[in-house]
Amino acid sequence: MRIGIPRETLEGETRVAATPETVKKYVAGGNSVIVERGAGDAARYPDQAYEAAGASAGSRTDALGADMVLTVRMPDAGGLGALKPGAILVGMLDPYDSEGLARLAATGVTGFALEAAPRITRAQSLDVLSSQANLAGYKAVLLAAHYYGRLFPMMMTAAGTLKAARAVVLGAGVAGLQAIATARRLGAVVEASDVRPAAKEQVESLGAKFIDVPFETDEEREIAQGVGGYARPMPAAWMARQAALVSERCKQADIVITTALIPGRPAPTLVSAETVQAMKPGSVLVDLAVERGGNCPLSEKGQVVEKHGVTLVGLTNLPALVPTDASALYARNVMDFLKLLVDKDGSPAMQREDEIVAACLVCEAGNVVRRS
Ligand code: NAI
Repeated sequence: MRIGIPRETLEGETRVAATPETVKKYVAGGNSVIVERGAGDAARYPDQAYEAAGASAGSRTDALGADMVLTVRMPDAGGLGALKPGAILVGMLDPYDSEGLARLAATGVTGFALEAAPRITRAQSLDVLSSQANLAGYKAVLLAAHYYGRLFPMMMTAAGTLKAARAVVLGAGVAGLQAIATARRLGAVVEASDVRPAAKEQVESLGAKFIDVPFETDEEREIAQGVGGYARPMPAAWMARQAALVSERCKQADIVITTALIPGRPAPTLVSAETVQAMKPGSVLVDLAVERGGNCPLSEKGQVVEKHGVTLVGLTNLPALVPTDASALYARNVMDFLKLLVDKDGSPAMQREDEIVAACLVCEAGNVVRRS
């Protein structure tokens, strides 16, 4: 199989879908690999490192014209035009973007969106949402520390004592749990909330306090369990109780990190404009959900803004700010997925019946594969 690795073209996208480490394994597995010149530059993987791993550096057309193309994001219009009908494209193709998928399907490629992998134990090593959200959670705390005019840890000095920062993390999934761990390591006092009751134990095991929003009906308790590891939209009455509690905790906080998402829907509003107004001047809110509408209506996509004395960090694509590690993990996720598509000797062997393959397939033979 001829595998192509194009350079990413989306603004701010610094990651690359294969590293010299994974390229070496593809080549050892009987594949030939062509990397677009400069594809790994932003992630600090130079062309020479790919060549040393057995790849050849080539043009964009060469990389996109391969039998199997590995990307981080959906290729731009020019990139789509260079794909070969019948080829396989693997990447984070956004399975909820029906227009994007229609454009991709029109190229005649077989497309796999890795974000759609089911949350089963066997899929953990190829779970791109987890590998990247983990890094986003870490980076969110470092950004908060950067924009905060004080320190995180309690510090006793000859010139006086500095108080520890108080952090509130909303949404304790993969990103939120890493944010909690990172904020704790930096010395902050941390509280966290999530709709899924399973998150309580995980939050507490990291040394943070769980903000418990009580359930008043069996229906609330049932919906809160989520489905397949993901949250579902909660009834309005529960959301109102959560808003009141969150507002109270945010007023006491110095740092707020929001990570709450519901697949295929706009992010829930957790920190209202009124809550931001009541927060302490100088506090920082990092909204990791901003790309999906945000957990705070005042945060602005792609921007760092100050409103009511609070710095609102709405930067998107935080994994791209740590591109070397983000690419290393992503590339391993992709390599693991490819084991379901390619034989040990490099010949095509799509395991069509496999539930991971079936879940990730988004288009084939000119048609978008409809999701159930
Ligand atoms: P996500 O990115 O879709 O959402 C982030 C968090 O926001 C979730 O924990 C969700 O419960 C929470 N949330 C949604 N609405 C909320 C609200 N109104 N208030 C507070 N929190 C709210 O989810 P993520 O981080 O990708 O994964 C969530 C969970 O899935 C993980 O903690 C884990 O238990 C499970 N998982 C399982 C995997 C596997 O078995 N292969 C792999 C990855 C995660």
